[in-house]
Amino acid sequence: MTATDLPQGMTRDTISLLLGHPDPATLLTDEFQAAMQNAMNQPRSYAALQYGPEQGTPRLIQFLVGRLNREQQLTLQPDQVMIVAGATHAVDMIARLYARPGGVVLVEAPTYADSIHIFRDHQIDLRAVPMDEHGLLIPELERQLAALKGEGKSPAFLYTIPNFHNPTGITTSEARRIEVIRLAHQYGFLIVEDDVYRELSFEGIVPRSYYALANGEGVLSIGSFSKTLAPGLRLGWLVGSTGAIQRFVNCGTTQMGGGANPFAAHIVAEYCCEGYWEAHIARLRALYRQRCDVALSALREYMPKGVTWTQPEGGFFLWLTLPQSVLAQPVKQAALRNGVLVAAGNGFFVKPDDGDHNLRLAFSFAAPADIEAGIRILGQVIGQLSTSKVAQP
Ligand SMILES: Cc1ncc(COP(=O)(O)O)c(C=O)c1O
Repeated sequence: MTATDLPQGMTRDTISLLLGHPDPATLLTDEFQAAMQNAMNQPRSYAALQYGPEQGTPRLIQFLVGRLNREQQLTLQPDQVMIVAGATHAVDMIARLYARPGGVVLVEAPTYADSIHIFRDHQIDLRAVPMDEHGLLIPELERQLAALKGEGKSPAFLYTIPNFHNPTGITTSEARRIEVIRLAHQYGFLIVEDDVYRELSFEGIVPRSYYALANGEGVLSIGSFSKTLAPGLRLGWLVGSTGAIQRFVNCGTTQMGGGANPFAAHIVAEYCCEGYWEAHIARLRALYRQRCDVALSALREYMPKGVTWTQPEGGFFLWLTLPQSVLAQPVKQAALRNGVLVAAGNGFFVKPDDGDHNLRLAFSFAAPADIEAGIRILGQVIGQLSTSKVAQP
């Protein structure tokens, strides 16, 4: 990598536990290069450079329908899957088509910072529902739904990250998912599941998706190639009812621009149909599991008393809770001065103060030795800030 390839905020001598970027060594593999060559050497390869069908490249849709049906015991038809330019594109389209400015959307507290950003762009009234280590707190969700009803309002949808959640690493239990579906039916809101980490379970075990549990009724499900192949492809998928997918296919930007990223989609279709993706996912699970283990054992060794953290079973992140006397922002700044980048919790909350005592650590990007060193430094910084706090009159 050259210095200009480094993610935001990084310089050569920093350790980044900041961003949910895949390990750079997993990106430009021999298999990916072979798929690229093959995809460009077909009689109709030019189609990859033409405007594509609005719903997306048919070969990739066909592949995804087969895989989703196999993996999740679904009975999807090709008109229920759309190719999108990454999960981000899907979140933006859903916000635009399903919520009105001033309309209510429910999110988890905390949630993915960039989704908060997108919802704010659409002037959505965000209501945040707290979570514990099993997912959304159902009594709190129910309380907020009843209060909204009292105000004569009904949420357009609930946005949830059910597996290996960003930022906490938590997986919502199946029991909680069933309760959320019950409330969705009772109060008439849509469930939007952002499932971009689903494939990255360390043990290969994930609860049934909201889409599967609800038999597809009232659920839009989002997937992505960003975490399991390469974010630079800008490629993902959206699953919904035939009617919902038609709505996205017929929206202005899709009609005007054609299908999402036909060039990348042709290459990825070739890659997936050769069976390369499954093998790659298996390698990634082992790789990120090892990194998560390194992070967890460093946390046990180096974190001062009073710091707690989640135990992810997949994905890229874990979530620290600091003692009440220690604020995340000074920790972030002091860690940065010592060459370690971490995310303070504030950006992941609708009410930023709610994240005053949290940090998100990404274990996906840094090498194991750097993860260990980064957490050692972070532990020292937190230790110093807790002591200096206690010493103050
Ligand atoms: C929960 C979640 N959704 C969406 C994205 C972005 O996905 P994509 O690159 O497919 O747009 C991320 C990336 O960090 C994420 O964590």
